[in-house]
Amino acid sequence: MSGRAATARLTPSTGSPHARILSVGSHLPEQVVTNEEICQFIDSSDEWIRSRSGVVTRHRAAPDESVVDMAEAACLVALERAGLQGSDIDAVLVATLTHPYQTPSAAAKLTDRLGATPAAAVDLSAACAGFCYGVSMACDMIRGGSARHVLVVGSEKLSDFVDPTDRGTAFLFGDGAGAVVVGPSDTPAIGPTVWGSDGSQWDALSSRSSWVEYRDQERAVWPALQMAGQTVFRWAVWDISPVARKALDAAGIAPADLAAFVPHQANSRIIDAMVKQLKLPPEVAVARDISDHGNTSAASVPIALDRILSEGLAPSGGLALLIGFGAGLVYAAQVVELP
Ligand code: UT7
Repeated sequence: MSGRAATARLTPSTGSPHARILSVGSHLPEQVVTNEEICQFIDSSDEWIRSRSGVVTRHRAAPDESVVDMAEAACLVALERAGLQGSDIDAVLVATLTHPYQTPSAAAKLTDRLGATPAAAVDLSAACAGFCYGVSMACDMIRGGSARHVLVVGSEKLSDFVDPTDRGTAFLFGDGAGAVVVGPSDTPAIGPTVWGSDGSQWDALSSRSSWVEYRDQERAVWPALQMAGQTVFRWAVWDISPVARKALDAAGIAPADLAAFVPHQANSRIIDAMVKQLKLPPEVAVARDISDHGNTSAASVPIALDRILSEGLAPSGGLALLIGFGAGLVYAAQVVELP
């Protein structure tokens, strides 16, 4: 026999009974890019892009504006609205697929910039589902007692990782950031997350090479995003709509109880199909800001959430269904009470 039997007892974790989104903020870079400008590099048209994807314009970050810069701007708004400072934050989760360093994380730099050091800091690699993954993790951290206030951020500079000459992706994506502060609550305000993955479709939306291939191959191409558009489209419509329905069931509510539906802004036709499949009544506000901002991957849900609240389309205290889905393939959905 080896080792000693444990006699000391570990202190149990004691978190808040529940968690809620306390505030939301977002940031969009100044430059607005039209479909005509995109069509200078691909054989397409404003009419095709609008009708097939819903995108009319997207924002583009300046060359010296980074994922961390945009995240910082969004977080400062969210912190101010929550009446908190960086020093009140215990953990920073940054969902991104475009932070251009393998290591260290965008979250570590962001945490320092916000004056939140020594908060825990980590990046989440869950593509367009990353923000909803983060909300779920923040909720569990607060309830488990490992954090009291968590910043969940989605920040993307997709213009660095999209090939402007790729007809399948060049028109779709935009840059921007969104953030929420998640904190303790006396009542349930973040419903159970329904999430998952299907790695058998790993190739459907991916970097077109790895960093190692980029280094070693003779005719290596920059690891921009590539997408089997129709495959991802069909998956989103047929496999992800039921996930949204399961999140409603898990929260114990009906579509008519929702004030807002805030899906990942992937394609306006996907949003329309989800609204139809969920049988959402017309009173439910549906986020459709893909038209102005394009698909901003991990940032799209918090940017759309901020907009729906800022424009008064859904009331504070109302219920919103959030859903993110993308490369992996991965997905996550939850019902939240609006801040
Ligand atoms: O954010 C993560 C999740 N991402 C998504 O959910 C995106 C899902 N996919 C999509 O949104 C759509 O697949 C796209 C918007 C990317 C593409 O739309 P689509 O209707 O699936 O186009 P398609 O690839 O099926 O192509 C249809 C037609 C083809 O022409 P023919 O063969 O019918 O004559 C293409 O050659 O449209 C043509 N086409 C284009 N035409 C003008 C493809 N891309 C373009 C283009 N401009 N950029």
